[in-house]
Amino acid sequence: MNKIKIAILASGRGSNFEAIAKAVKDGTCHAQIMVLITNKPDAGAIKIAQNYKIPVEIVERKSFANRDGLDLKIKSILDQNKVELVVLAGYMLLIKNKSLLEKYENRIINIHPSLLPAFPGESAQKDAFEYGAKISGLTIHFVNETLDGGAIIYQEAVDISECENEYDVAREIITREHSAYAKVIDMFARGKFTTEGRRVKYVENNKEGKHE
Ligand code: GAR
Repeated sequence: MNKIKIAILASGRGSNFEAIAKAVKDGTCHAQIMVLITNKPDAGAIKIAQNYKIPVEIVERKSFANRDGLDLKIKSILDQNKVELVVLAGYMLLIKNKSLLEKYENRIINIHPSLLPAFPGESAQKDAFEYGAKISGLTIHFVNETLDGGAIIYQEAVDISECENEYDVAREIITREHSAYAKVIDMFARGKFTTEGRRVKYVENNKEGKHE
C-alpha cells in the first residue's frame, strides 16, 4: 500500500505531531511526513522534527506583508512536497487564503479539543471546564474558511466530570487525541472516507480509495 504524503502544521509543543511521527515510524500509520511547517521559531515541534529527521520550514507571520502572503508560502511548500493531506496539529492561525483552501479542499484536517460545535476557538478546554460540561472530547474535522467549522470526520467523547481545573481537562483529552489522530490519518491513507457536503462517511471497502 502506498503511503500518503502528509505535511504537519504546528505552532506549539507538538505532542500530537510526535504521536503521529511515532505511529509512522512504528508502521501503524501509513503516511510519510514530508515536512513540518511552523509559524513559531521556538516551537517544541521543531526539536521533534529534528529527532525524526523530518525537514522543517519556518514561516513567521512577520516575514509577510499580509496573511495571504503567509498562506501562499505555505501552499508553495505543500505543492513542492506533493503533499496529499495537510495535518494541522496545534496550528494556531486560521488558514484564510482561498487558493490554498480550494486546492486542498477536503485535504486539510485539524484536531480540536472539544466536541464541536461546542467550544470552538483557542481555549476549548478552559471554556468546557468553566461551563461545567461533564462530557467534552475531541473532534477531527476538515478545514474551511470558518473557525473550527468544517465537516466533522471523527469525534470521541471524554468524561471530564471529575476534572478540577482546565489543565485536568486538557490532560484527559490530549492522550485521546494522540491515538485518534494517527488512526484517522491511517484511515485516510487507506481511502476509508467519502465526503458529500458536510457528511463524511467511513467506508470499510472503498473501491475508490486512492491509496489502496
Ligand atoms: C491540542 O490539544 C490541539 O487539539 C489543540 O492544541 C493542542 C496542541 O497540542 N488545538 C486547538 O486548540 C486548535 N483550535 P500539541 O502541540 O501538544 O499537539
